[in-house]
Amino acid sequence: MAIEKTFVMVKPDGVQRGLIGEIVSRFERKGLKLVGAKLMSVSQQLAEQHYAEHKERPFFGELVQFITSSPVFAMVWEGENAVSVARTMMGKTNPAESAPGTIRGDFGLTIGMNIIHGSDSPESADREIALWFGNEALSYDKAVDVWVG
Ligand code: TYD
Ligand code: MG
Repeated sequence: MAIEKTFVMVKPDGVQRGLIGEIVSRFERKGLKLVGAKLMSVSQQLAEQHYAEHKERPFFGELVQFITSSPVFAMVWEGENAVSVARTMMGKTNPAESAPGTIRGDFGLTIGMNIIHGSDSPESADREIALWFGNEALSYDKAVDVWVG
C-alpha cells in the first residue's frame, strides 16, 4: 500500500467562484487526509518555479499571469495512492473533455481556467510540496485510521 502525499491547489477561478469548500469536501469524503492548507497570494517567482516544465510553451505567460492574479488555496493531501487518486478526481486538463463527476468536468469550461491543480507524479508531488510548503506540511495519526464513508 503506497501512502503518498500530493500537492493540490484551487486556482484563482475556483477561489473566486466559491468552490474551495466543495473541493475540500470531495477529497475528505474520498478518504484522503488534509495535512496542509493555506489561502495565499502567489509571487511571479513562485508561479514560474511551479510551472517551470511549461516555460517554453505558448501559454506559459498567460498561465503565470492567471495564477498570480488573485489568491489560491494550496493544500497537501495524504493517503493511499493520493497522487493518482487526486488526478482522477480532477479530470482531464481540458474541462471540455473531463468526465462529469470529476471536478473539472462538473465545474469547468475552458482550459485556461480549469479550477484546480494536482501533482502529476510522486516526484512532482515531492518537488511541489517542498516549493509551496517547505517543512510546514503536517503529519498526524488519526485515532481511527479506517475509511469512513
Ligand atoms: P498541464 O500540466 O499540461 O495540465 P494539468 O494542470 O492537468 O497538469 O498544464 C498546466 C496548466 O496549463 C493547465 O492546468 C492549464 C494550462 N494550459 C493551457 O492554458 N493551455 C494548454 O494548452 C495546456 C496544455 C495547459
Ligand atoms: Mg501539470
